[in-house]
Amino acid sequence: MMSPIAADMDAVNAVIRRQLHSEVPLVNQIAEYIISAGGKRLRPVLVLLMARACGYAGDKHHELAAVIEFIHTATLLHDDVVDESSLRRGRQTANALFGNAASVLVGDFLYSRAFQMMVAVDNARVMQIVADATNVIAEGEVLQLLNMHNPDVSEENYLQVIRSKTAKLFEAAAQLGVLIAGADDAATEAAIEAAGEYGRSLGTAFQLIDDVLDYSGNASDIGKNVGDDLREGKPTLPLIYLMSHGTPEQRELVRSCIENGDEQHFDEILAAITTSGALDYTRQEAEKAAQRAAAAITGLPNSQFKDSLLQLSVFAVDRNH
Ligand code: IPE
Ligand code: IPE
Ligand code: MG
Ligand code: MG
Repeated sequence: MMSPIAADMDAVNAVIRRQLHSEVPLVNQIAEYIISAGGKRLRPVLVLLMARACGYAGDKHHELAAVIEFIHTATLLHDDVVDESSLRRGRQTANALFGNAASVLVGDFLYSRAFQMMVAVDNARVMQIVADATNVIAEGEVLQLLNMHNPDVSEENYLQVIRSKTAKLFEAAAQLGVLIAGADDAATEAAIEAAGEYGRSLGTAFQLIDDVLDYSGNASDIGKNVGDDLREGKPTLPLIYLMSHGTPEQRELVRSCIENGDEQHFDEILAAITTSGALDYTRQEAEKAAQRAAAAITGLPNSQFKDSLLQLSVFAVDRNH
């Protein structure tokens, strides 16, 4: 999946290293801590693949790919504070190790460094896409906060949250790839539109599966603790489905777990979302979104990069990490 852009990815990692630098030691320490833990680097991969799939032969996309990974990493630093999570990328979270204050502030450092880098690229359209995405992610996280402990959240409202908090950055990443490659013409506009649909659908599939793995995954595979969502009383799709398709007893159990944020009943809930088909339903919705992603890029010329983009849509659903 990544092999056609292995050299590009090395270049992106070099940009990341260079741009992490700060005169303030704690900034370096925390930023280095979370970045060096790795992660899948999917969003920068998306920028690189899309740019190459559109025929781009230059190297300006490395900077943009690093911008996207910095924004992603900033959201993770903030998200782990908000979610009170203790494990990320197979390590203790920054908030567990360095505290909430330091995590929030270094998250701000990464956001603002990303914006410095983006401004240096000096392309108004790039700035618009990245600024809009960052703003929508923040809205998504706040919308989700409003939904916390609310068992009456609808499937549509849940989808709105995941489109904002997760899919929007995938959308932006894919669009930046096209933009950096493209001429300023109508064909490029159509390609930006298609890339947006690809990224949005891929990101939706990705988050749906993330919400499945929060119940059915292994901490050692996902590098995060399972059960975080239930502990927080977060109404994700497996629970929303169970409330409308389960028995009255199951509905009451889920309602009370969401209202109270109840990790004691994790095993019982896992059994119920498994046997009721709630996990399968969520996986099927992810599969549909992944198919929409694949369909959105049929117009791209055939290439190994396009193949990788198609493989990415399969991975988003078939993954266990
Ligand atoms: C985690 O994203 C946040 C979600 C949107 C689920 P990733 O699973 O891509 O995180 P890393 O970068 O690989 O750690
Ligand atoms: C991740 O949301 C989305 C953002 C970081 C904006 P989650 O809270 O669902 O993801 P994980 O499980 O902590 O990675
Ligand atoms: Mg989280
Ligand atoms: Mg969260």
